[in-house]
Amino acid sequence: MDWLLALLAGYFIGSVPFGLLLAKAAGQGDIRQIGSGNIGATNVLRTGNKKLAALVLLLDLGKGFLAVMIAWHLWPAMAGFAAVGAVLGHCFPVWLRFKGGKGVATTAGVCFGLFWQIGLAFAAVWLGMLAITRISSAGGISAVIAAPIAAWLLGEPEFVPYLAFIGLVVLWLHRANIRRLLAGEEPKVGSKS
Ligand code: G3P
Repeated sequence: MDWLLALLAGYFIGSVPFGLLLAKAAGQGDIRQIGSGNIGATNVLRTGNKKLAALVLLLDLGKGFLAVMIAWHLWPAMAGFAAVGAVLGHCFPVWLRFKGGKGVATTAGVCFGLFWQIGLAFAAVWLGMLAITRISSAGGISAVIAAPIAAWLLGEPEFVPYLAFIGLVVLWLHRANIRRLLAGEEPKVGSKS
């Protein structure tokens, strides 16, 4: 049952909705009523508060990293389940009636926790695509696709199924973004919608 413990511990750590809590604490109101309605850093940036968005990014990433680190410590063979749990917790938090974020920053954190080189590959693709396109979702989508491939290429095939599953969840949550990207209508970082 260690796998279930790791999954649940990951889930509850991942389910802390930092975007929602920090935006509220900073007096921005309910972030779900702003922009895309997402609780992630991209949408917090639409409030105009760059520092707040950076903090949300860091904390959403940090909770993914922490969940995997705790699993390494308590159930070393089950870190992949903690990774999946953390992303599911962020995306479907019980506290918000299972309507959470889209999982990119938390996936970055779990990648760094599983194997730092996978994290670096994730960050390189994420930031590289973001720099090229100036579109947050394009960076995130590319990075979640790259993560299982990077795990394979870096000689960590045991993480491929977990990262592939996470990738499918994150892609599903970005389906409206993908439709807009294909239509050339996805807003660039910093624009209000
Ligand atoms: O990680 C979320 C980002 O990829 C897209 O966010 O608010 O533009 O849908 P948003």
